[in-house]
Amino acid sequence: MLWKTGLIFLCWGLTSGELQDRQSGTPAAPARTTLDFGLVPSGVYDTVAYYEPGAIGILFNMMHAFLYVVQPNPFPEGELSLPENIVLTLQVIYYELGFVVCAALGLLFTVLLPLVGLLFCLCRCCDNCGGEMHQRQRKNTDCLRGLLTTLWSVFMKLFMAGVLCAYAANQNLSSQLKSMRRLVKSNLKDLHTFANQTPAQIDYLISKYDTVKQHVLHDLENVGVILGGRIHEELGKDVQPALNGVLSMTGTMRDTKDALENVSLSLETLQEGTVKLQANLSLVRGSLSNALNDPVCTHPQSFEICHNIRSTLPKLEIAANYSSLTDVTNQLDKVNEVLKTDLGQIVEKGFASFNDTPNLVTDQTRNIVEGVKVLLDDVGSNVTTFTKLFPVHSTLTNFTKMISHTHSQIEDIYPQVDQMDFYRWICCITLCCMVVLILTFNFLGLLCGILGFDRHATPTTRGCVSNTGGNLLMAGVGFSFLFSWVLMGVITALFLAGGNLEKLVCEPFQTRQLFKVLDTPNLVNSAWKNFIPGYLYNDPELDLTAYSLYSNCKDNRGIYSALHLDKVFNISAFFNTSVVSGSRKFEGMKVDLRGIILLESEGKQNLISFTETGINEIDFAAYLEEVNKGVTRIDLVDFASRLDAQADQLSKGTLQTSLKGHANTIRQIHIQQVIPLEKSMSTLNQSIRLLERTSSDLPVRVRDVLAAVDAAQYLISHNATFVINQETEKYKQTIIGYFKQYIDWIRTSLALEVATCKPLSNIVDTAEILGCSFLLDSMNTFWFGLGCSTLFLLPSIILSVKLAKFYRRMDTEDVYDE
Ligand SMILES: *[C@@H]1O[C@H](CO)[C@@H](O)[C@H](O)[C@H]1NC(C)=O
Ligand SMILES: *[C@@H]1O[C@H](CO)[C@@H](O)[C@H](O)[C@H]1NC(C)=O
Ligand SMILES: *[C@@H]1O[C@H](CO)[C@@H](O)[C@H](O)[C@H]1NC(C)=O
Ligand SMILES: *[C@@H]1O[C@H](CO)[C@@H](O)[C@H](O)[C@H]1NC(C)=O
Ligand SMILES: *[C@@H]1O[C@H](CO)[C@@H](O)[C@H](O)[C@H]1NC(C)=O
Ligand SMILES: *[C@@H]1O[C@H](CO)[C@@H](O)[C@H](O)[C@H]1NC(C)=O
Ligand SMILES: *[C@@H]1O[C@H](CO)[C@@H](O)[C@H](O)[C@H]1NC(C)=O
Ligand SMILES: *[C@@H]1O[C@H](CO)[C@@H](O)[C@H](O)[C@H]1NC(C)=O
Ligand SMILES: *[C@@H]1O[C@H](CO)[C@@H](O)[C@H](O)[C@H]1NC(C)=O
Repeated sequence: MLWKTGLIFLCWGLTSGELQDRQSGTPAAPARTTLDFGLVPSGVYDTVAYYEPGAIGILFNMMHAFLYVVQPNPFPEGELSLPENIVLTLQVIYYELGFVVCAALGLLFTVLLPLVGLLFCLCRCCDNCGGEMHQRQRKNTDCLRGLLTTLWSVFMKLFMAGVLCAYAANQNLSSQLKSMRRLVKSNLKDLHTFANQTPAQIDYLISKYDTVKQHVLHDLENVGVILGGRIHEELGKDVQPALNGVLSMTGTMRDTKDALENVSLSLETLQEGTVKLQANLSLVRGSLSNALNDPVCTHPQSFEICHNIRSTLPKLEIAANYSSLTDVTNQLDKVNEVLKTDLGQIVEKGFASFNDTPNLVTDQTRNIVEGVKVLLDDVGSNVTTFTKLFPVHSTLTNFTKMISHTHSQIEDIYPQVDQMDFYRWICCITLCCMVVLILTFNFLGLLCGILGFDRHATPTTRGCVSNTGGNLLMAGVGFSFLFSWVLMGVITALFLAGGNLEKLVCEPFQTRQLFKVLDTPNLVNSAWKNFIPGYLYNDPELDLTAYSLYSNCKDNRGIYSALHLDKVFNISAFFNTSVVSGSRKFEGMKVDLRGIILLESEGKQNLISFTETGINEIDFAAYLEEVNKGVTRIDLVDFASRLDAQADQLSKGTLQTSLKGHANTIRQIHIQQVIPLEKSMSTLNQSIRLLERTSSDLPVRVRDVLAAVDAAQYLISHNATFVINQETEKYKQTIIGYFKQYIDWIRTSLALEVATCKPLSNIVDTAEILGCSFLLDSMNTFWFGLGCSTLFLLPSIILSVKLAKFYRRMDTEDVYDE
């Protein structure tokens, strides 16, 4: 009773510290951080509940073999609840048949032997049954005596072996008492370890709640960075490109302005420059024309040259005429107007507003975060409250006291045990002594008979020693009749008790069939399926059998799982409440990002204005046509070189000098005017082409950029719920994941490491070793040995009687006539 109460209190105590959850239904949380809870402090149990009998094991095995022959039937399984009494009785008799037969034989022996002895005695007193002191002389007397002696000594040896076997078993039992004390002591020590360590283990489990708390608090404090950051990142996939698109438009605007300015400037330069160039070229043309009027040209040899030069003169003219091109000042003004608004800054504002998401999240979730923090403390204090509610320490202290008390009680009965063992020892030795007495008489008888044997003596003239030998043998027979029925009675009783215990308790225990019987439904209490949960929790349907308890403890599992203590204190339920209320706290989590404005309307207007600056109205074709014409119709340097060459062909004179002078003037014009104009033209070429490109795709680009910005804005203002919910769920699962890791850790710890119940199974195993290996095996071997001896008494009686005839001095003898 004390035990059971202690156990139940222990269970209550344990459950108070346990925290467990079975929230396997929810999807696996993306647990980023794996929490490290360290190792639960564990104790070492000393008891080795295992016994190896040593040399006497051979005798044990012989005894077991004998029992197997007597009772080969396997242990009856599940047949114990048969309703029919007669059938049951028959089955029991069938099962016990070997025992019944042996016991009947034993009883027969016990009852018949004294009777036979009495009759034999009476018979002999009437000079019958070999009582007549007369021995017939036969030729084979010697041979017969030798045969009888041999047979007799064989039986005596078996007889002696039996006695030694019984004696060894008797001594073994006494010597195992020391092992017994050691085993009991180490079991109790393990129970102490169990009781001392469990509170520390539970405290350790509870203390690790802080780790969870710290992680959760960290995530709560940084909700902006973690949750807001993730929302920001997720939305950024749409927002960033949109805003970048706007930002690139500002670049386009600046480039457009630059190009327009370049066009404007270079057009002016070109217009002015070509007019000047045209003037100087016509001057040169006029001047050359005049020079060619020189009389030298009339000479037939020079005429050709002069004519050639004159014919090329019209080509000395400008090619591109820019005066008819409309300038771009109108567009430039409008672009400058557009550029007065700083679109870049507006975009920066949009970015800043969007990047403020973490702060927005922090602000908007403040209430919920506070709520969860409160919940966190709540759970923590509930854990502590529960610990205080069930006083583990005090319970285990009481348990320890109980163990100490039990220990001292056990120590107290050791003297009694020793005394009882002494009496038992005396009894067994007495029984052995009876056999030894018979043995002694027989042995001495034979010894005397052999020593005093005289080959030449006739039966009537046998010596005193020989006669004494024969008498001693007869005394041995007498003692045999006196003691053997006592011995057989005791042996039969021991055999029935010990054999059945071995067959019905010890063997089934070793094959674990005993547990099946114990676990037979409705066995202990007819209304209960399983009696252990019935007693402990009043719930006999619970799947907790003696065998599951024993084997769980033997595997050194925690008592929480072994005893299904979740029945008393359901960690899953406890934490389910917390997790469910935690989840519910998060349900109210709403993040509203409508405050974020990506692009103010001014910026949009600015972009639209940019498309309306009219750069598409520029006559790019006209520009490019002029640009492609080049500055002059012919290359002036070429022209000058050719002029020089032609001048060289002329005879020396004024014309030649004049022509060379003109060639130089043309070169001057090229260097001073054409080259700068070409540069301007190149600039104009580039700028106009750039403008052409820009203007062609500008409307589409602006439309796309605006659409992207609008879409991103719509997403943030109206469609962010999806993203936010998704990220909030992940965030929630991360936090709940910490709890789950903790709960899982606690569950495994409770199952495998906390309050491991090996001492309990050790107690059962120890009981088995004490009861079966120490006590029962020795006892069975004792009756086995003694039984062998007693059985060999029968032939030895007959042989002794026969042998005595050969040693005792006869009264008469056969007289042979010669
Ligand atoms: C937790 O409790 C809720 C209701 O309180 C229940 O619906 C849910 O199934 C429980 N979860 C588990 C894993 O037991
Ligand atoms: C405008 O002219 C400047 C200097 O002449 C030049 O560096 C720049 O590249 C030109 N811009 C464009 C768009 O052609
Ligand atoms: C250039 O064009 C203008 C108008 O079209 C014209 O008046 C002028 O004469 C032209 N100049 C040359 C050199 O052809
Ligand atoms: C422990 O023992 C003390 C005194 O024997 C008793 O008052 C207390 O209630 C016991 N505690 C438990 C948990 O059984
Ligand atoms: C413990 O609670 C969980 C969830 O509430 C439940 O599924 C389980 O069956 C309970 N266990 C016991 C032994 O009552
Ligand atoms: C803590 O315990 C109280 C009272 O037992 C209970 O009302 C509350 O729901 C518990 N809180 C949690 C988070 O389990
Ligand atoms: C104008 O620019 C284009 C491309 O940059 C080039 O192919 C072409 O030759 C240029 N024309 C002149 C006259 O420089
Ligand atoms: C071009 O003409 C102007 C005046 O008409 C003159 O000053 C200038 O020197 C001339 N340039 C060349 C290279 O002849
Ligand atoms: C906005 O939400 C609707 C439905 O909730 C969805 O079909 C649509 O794809 C979402 N738009 C964006 C841009 O995410």
